[in-house]
Amino acid sequence: MMDATRTDRLAEDWHERAYDLTRGIAAYAASPLIEGLARVVARHPEAEIANAFNHKQVACKMWARDKLFESCGGRFGRVWVLGGWYGVLPAMFFDDARFDMDMIESIDIDPDVAAIAETLNRSAGERFKALTSDMYALDYAAAKPDLVINSSCEHIADVRGWLDILPEGTRVLLQSNDYFSEPSHINCVASLTAFEEMAALREVRFSGELPTKNYTRFMLIGTV
Ligand SMILES: C[S@@+](CC[C@H](N)C(=O)[O-])C[C@H]1O[C@@H](n2cnc3c(N)ncnc32)[C@H](O)[C@@H]1O
Repeated sequence: MMDATRTDRLAEDWHERAYDLTRGIAAYAASPLIEGLARVVARHPEAEIANAFNHKQVACKMWARDKLFESCGGRFGRVWVLGGWYGVLPAMFFDDARFDMDMIESIDIDPDVAAIAETLNRSAGERFKALTSDMYALDYAAAKPDLVINSSCEHIADVRGWLDILPEGTRVLLQSNDYFSEPSHINCVASLTAFEEMAALREVRFSGELPTKNYTRFMLIGTV
């Protein structure tokens, strides 16, 4: 069995190596997004950034970008990403030349994540902001976001109740999944049809599913 000091030292070594590696990849790829990941590794060692940027999370968000572009194009005014966690999706939009978004605000109820999202998206400057709020408490009619993204529908109790707060005609991109065994998932759906029925969007521009090893992710793009 390893003693605690040795375990701590190994964790510290791993952390330094992860920082060196992400900085190296950022330099090689000339990527502001990877530079942002390196900054998060350095400044927020407590953040679960490896989880937020694992290959499955990245695949789901690349899928979101592709289908959004195909169904609505790439030009947007104010974009709200709700349940935005560490701001990975905004970072991926800023990294994608197909998209021209005036401003992306990542909004999450957890007060610990805003600083991490700001660190990740620092290169976007004034075009990115991370805010702490409950998505049920936002004034959508006053802010008039051009697009509302919620890729955390499995984390909120009443998806249709939340959609009812949005003004009619608001464009939305929604993701959920059937990963029932994850304890923080309080509202998974068993199928794409169940998700369509739950959301009951007025207009659907895209509806589809992305199978991954342990679960299937569902996505709807349309208007409320
Ligand atoms: C695990 S994360 C994101 C998962 C999702 N697969 C993704 O990457 O987009 C879910 C986030 O939703 C946030 N969240 C849960 N309920 C919320 C609410 N009512 N308002 C805003 N954020 C909320 C949590 O704090 C958490 O950061």
